[in-house]
Amino acid sequence: MKTPASIDAERLDGWSRELARFSDDPAPAVRRVLYTPTDLEGRAYVHGLAKDAGLSLRVDPIGNAFYRLEGTDPSLPAVATGSHLDAIPNAGRFDGTVGVLGGIAALESIARAGLKPKRAIEVIAFTSEEPTRFGIGCVGSRLLAGALTPDAVRALRDGEGRAFEAVRAEAGFSGALEEVVLKPGHFHAFVELHVEQGPVLEREKVAIGAVTAIAAPASYEITIRGEGGHAGGALMPTRRDALCGAADFVLAVERSAKRSATGDTVGTVGVCRVFPGAVNGIPNRVELTLDLRDTALEARDAAFAQIEAAIDTIRAERGLTVELRTLNADPPATADAGIVDAVERSAAALGLSSMRLPSRAYHDALFLARVAPMGMVFVPSAGGLSHRPDEHTDPEEVARGAEVLARTLLHLAEGDDA
Ligand code: GLV
Ligand code: MN
Ligand code: MN
Repeated sequence: MKTPASIDAERLDGWSRELARFSDDPAPAVRRVLYTPTDLEGRAYVHGLAKDAGLSLRVDPIGNAFYRLEGTDPSLPAVATGSHLDAIPNAGRFDGTVGVLGGIAALESIARAGLKPKRAIEVIAFTSEEPTRFGIGCVGSRLLAGALTPDAVRALRDGEGRAFEAVRAEAGFSGALEEVVLKPGHFHAFVELHVEQGPVLEREKVAIGAVTAIAAPASYEITIRGEGGHAGGALMPTRRDALCGAADFVLAVERSAKRSATGDTVGTVGVCRVFPGAVNGIPNRVELTLDLRDTALEARDAAFAQIEAAIDTIRAERGLTVELRTLNADPPATADAGIVDAVERSAAALGLSSMRLPSRAYHDALFLARVAPMGMVFVPSAGGLSHRPDEHTDPEEVARGAEVLARTLLHLAEGDDA
């Protein structure tokens, strides 16, 4: 059996370093926020790499980019891979980009070996996996998979109150959002390469993770309102300080997650805006976000119920109003058993160790799983670190992940079943 060509680790790392230069934070931090000039310039750089690799390009109305290697039978649904190019503030250069650049390298290695699979293979660079600008993650993949309606996308507003449609048009993307939604059976299978963003592979000294499931993420916006006033004049017993309620809320999140029976529940308050924001003014309003996850939906629900009970107490004991708005509460996704096997076999064929593990972070694969059999390939994250500038995976580890991806994609593109 012919196999894909090997992948040059230094060359692939060079692509990653070059892409990291498209950033609105000073190096080594990376920030590429949806539809900013930096995001668009980063995309253009990657389009060039895909073109040089001999792949064709299609961009849908929301900006999802599809880089395609043709198969021998155009009547068959394509196999897809991919991830995202956007990066949260103060991010590193591996999250998401490894799956797009590694995907392009994988298709190039298949083409370079003179292989022509039966099915076409596409690398997708999904629009806005990160929730930075519009508060909800995976906008591009949700819309593709029908997990978010075009109307819901049109209703999104960014932190400055700007409508999604206005910034999309300004960024040069046109066409109806309805055209983004995939027809049933559009893809034969979807496999995403990603850094683990956790400590397990490094700790176990294992090269490749075959992901079995993706945790169930939920996120919320919380507004706490009290009464402002003079930090010197207003006496303590009469105060209704919104930030003191927020402090209770944050600690309730931590307590609920820590008490979880699975030991896997994680809760994070990552945004806290205090108004009016004066040294000598009592906070009258606080806006917070909550990110709550578990691989088991029941455990996440149980933690959420405890947080809701804490909110009731904050209202009653502090005389504050607390509003909670659900941004998303997604169920977990299970990887396809055939793809998990294919990832393990691909690793073994390359002489690489592998293990099965769940993904605690969410990915575009969480939504592609709704429309195609899904799998993921993980490579180690140094120190388990991610979403920070010192996020790191060795070039060799990334390249081996891309080689496992290439073999897995080739297997799926040749077979009739996932
Ligand atoms: C993705 O970036 C996540 O927050 O899991
Ligand atoms: Mn991320
Ligand atoms: Mn990611």
